[in-house]
Amino acid sequence: SRSGKLQGKKVVITAGGTREAIDPVRYLTNRSSGKMGYALARAAAEHGAHVTLITTINRETIFGVHQIMVKSAQEMYDVSMSEFEDADYFIAAAAVADFKPTAELVHKIKKQADSTLTLNLVQNPDILKAIGQSKKAGQRVVGFAAETQHIIQSGQEKLVSKSADMLVANDVSRQDAGFSSDNNAVTILTRDERAQTLAKASKIAIAREIIERMITLN
Ligand code: C5P
Repeated sequence: SRSGKLQGKKVVITAGGTREAIDPVRYLTNRSSGKMGYALARAAAEHGAHVTLITTINRETIFGVHQIMVKSAQEMYDVSMSEFEDADYFIAAAAVADFKPTAELVHKIKKQADSTLTLNLVQNPDILKAIGQSKKAGQRVVGFAAETQHIIQSGQEKLVSKSADMLVANDVSRQDAGFSSDNNAVTILTRDERAQTLAKASKIAIAREIIERMITLN
């Protein structure tokens, strides 16, 4: 490993967009590629961590990373809560669907005479918030936030509302970084320090900086 700074530590990371089933053949999802979560998993493994990656997308196998595939937000929530129990760090990089269909239909929805169809949705659990609330002494939690304006202020509010120790705010209004892109541009917020804005760089370079910063959290 690069430094061994995370030797013996367990890091749990969520990645990808969740899939919320409508019927046996359809689901609701979003444009998340899972790339940032995978980059973080690689960067944490480079420091010798035991990494558990809870992911909706199967991108690649990384040495030292235990991958758990999930589909829905509820499934990701259940696995996250149980994997966090003996973890040292939790990083919420997944794009969790805020809503899911009220019920998963057993049969495929058929075309009807009506030209409109109403889907009823219900809110999913907030995984990061639940993890933050269940945090025990010594455990550290890192969240992400996709923002289009007032990035630092919204990020600081989210840091507090989710009981996180660090929040990585992402400007998603930029066309040259973020979703699906190989590049990212972020601002790191913590409880005690000034905001730190990282220059646009590859997701692996950003991930390495995030992990380095996470290691220094006290
Ligand atoms: O509240 P918002 O969706 O902006 O927060 C983003 C952060 O919260 C991300 O770290 C995301 O992974 C996490 N999140 C979550 N569960 C949700 C919604 C968001 O873990 N249901």
